[in-house]
Formats: sequence, C-alpha cells, structure tokens
Amino acid sequence: MTVFIDRVIPQIGLDLLQEAGISYEQHTENRELSKAELIAKCQAHDALLSAGWGPLDKEFLQECKHLKVVSLHSVGYDRVDVREATRLKIPVGNTPDVLSEATADTAFLLMLTVSRKALFLHKKIIQGQWGFSQPTDDLGFSLTGKTLGIFGLGNIGYELAKKANAAFHMPIIYHNRSTNQQAEKELGAKKVSFEELVQQSDVLAAFSTLTADTKNKFNKSVFAQMKPSAIFINASRGGVHNEEDLINAIQQGQIWGAGLDVTNPEPMHSDNPLLTMPTVAVFPHIGSATKEARDGMATLAAKNVIAALKGEHLPHLVNPEIYQTK
Ligand code: DGY
Repeated sequence: MTVFIDRVIPQIGLDLLQEAGISYEQHTENRELSKAELIAKCQAHDALLSAGWGPLDKEFLQECKHLKVVSLHSVGYDRVDVREATRLKIPVGNTPDVLSEATADTAFLLMLTVSRKALFLHKKIIQGQWGFSQPTDDLGFSLTGKTLGIFGLGNIGYELAKKANAAFHMPIIYHNRSTNQQAEKELGAKKVSFEELVQQSDVLAAFSTLTADTKNKFNKSVFAQMKPSAIFINASRGGVHNEEDLINAIQQGQIWGAGLDVTNPEPMHSDNPLLTMPTVAVFPHIGSATKEARDGMATLAAKNVIAALKGEHLPHLVNPEIYQTK
C-alpha cells in the first residue's frame, strides 16, 4: 500500500508511515500541483495525504475513486467535496485540536497588534519615518475590560477566550448554534444572538467553518452594525468575510480595524489597500505554524492514513456516514 503526499510535511508523520510499513511519494517542489498532476499522482497510489490548498472537488474524486482515504493535514475540510467523497465511500480525515492553541495565539497576536497599530508603526521605521512624534500621535487603545465576541466558539475560540479573559479581563460573548457549557462555566461566557454579538463586541473574532451559511457572513450590512471602535478578527477562512466590504467599512470608519490570518483570495494581492491601513494587520495564514502544532497535524494525518490502509475506522473522520451506509 502506498500514499501520495502533496507537500513537505514534518518528519514525524513520515516516520509513522514508515514504521507502519507504508511507502510514500512526497511532492517536494515549492509549487502547488495542478489538478491534473495531482490526479495522475493519486492514480498511482492507494491514499492521499494532502497539505495543499487546491480544491478536492467532484472531478478530482471521481477520477480518484479508488483512494482508500483522503487524509487532510488540516482541521478545515472546506476544500473537499465531502458529499461526493461520502457518495464514493472515500473516508476523509482531518486534524482537530492539535492546532487550537496555536491558532488562538495567532488571533490573540492579531488583536493586540491591531489595537496598538504595531505592524503599521514597524513598517514606518523600515521606511525611515521614525521621526519626531507628539504624545497624541499613533495612539491605539487598551484591551482591558473590552468585550470579546466570538462567532463560532469551538476549541479555537475557547482557547482565545481563555487567554483574553486571563490577560485583559475581557468579558466573553458568543454566537453558536449549540451552547458551549465549558466556556459558560469556566469563563462566564454569554451566548447572544448574532445581532447582539455584532453590536456589543469591541473585538469580534470569527472562528466558524466555511459553509454556504457562513460564506460572506461578515459583509457590508454586518460591518455597518458594529461599533466604530471595533476590531474584526478572522483566523478561520477568508470566505467568511467579504473583503471589499471590509475595506470600505474601515475606510468609512464603520469599524476601527481588522486582523486577518486568512484572506479572500489567498495569497492576498500585494496592492490590497488593507496592507497600508494603520489599523490593519494581515498574516499569511500562519494559524497552525508552530513546530508543536504542525508535528501534531502530521501525526494525526499519518494515523488517519495508517488506519484506513489497515481497513480500520479513521481516528479523526469528517464523514462518519460512510461507515453507516457501507
Ligand atoms: C487548518 O487546519 O484548517 C488550517 O487553516 C491550516 O493551517
């Protein structure tokens, strides 16, 4: 049994595959494979371990219906046509939990960076513009006691809420379908309607998965209801916000600023106006980019491959329906 790996993953994942007697081919070039190339590679293997970003859509899955698993090196699975994979009885695996803390740290860093205009001021030094300044220049604002609103309070949102509450005594409000008992009990988090979340948050962080319901959720009409002093944070998927609307909302002073670890599209174009705004910080989708998180992701992704190739259920399975209908 062999697996194709479409990017360079941490050695710990490769070692696990080797120990399990699974041989692999890894794409080591610094470029994304085209869909046709990926299909050709997968057709020569039994499994795919994917850390890439291209869509694993209906066409791909139909050309590769022999695959015993699509094991993602990510918690997010919006790039996979899961419905089609389920129809074709292909298990799809992901890597939850191991990146929650790293991603929450990234959101925390964005929040603090934006509140103090830190990236913008750093760029000014590089441009030779650290000159005379008045005590009234370049002011940010304190996060202490400000309300943190979380859209999609799961594991990552919980980690951010914990840190924000401990560091800045930030009260937590959230909007979810289900109640997050742990956050309510341990952090005094309060579940509110979407409108209340939008209107009451000083920092509004989006952590929802990207679905038809959440696509463009943060748009013109939502930004218009936020506080003019509010910061919008997105460390989930770029598609959750409308980037044109976000640019306009900041330019028109409807909100104060934004911190993005995800953009729409990715990579962001270097001439995007967000990149020159004082109250904006943009990172290149580095939420899970710590050694610890990436080792954890490689481990889980390898374990999902090993289980599938042994004919066992995946430890982290996105589409459990495949086992019910088999
Ligand atoms: C994920 O796991 O979905 C992240 O966005 C990838 O780093």
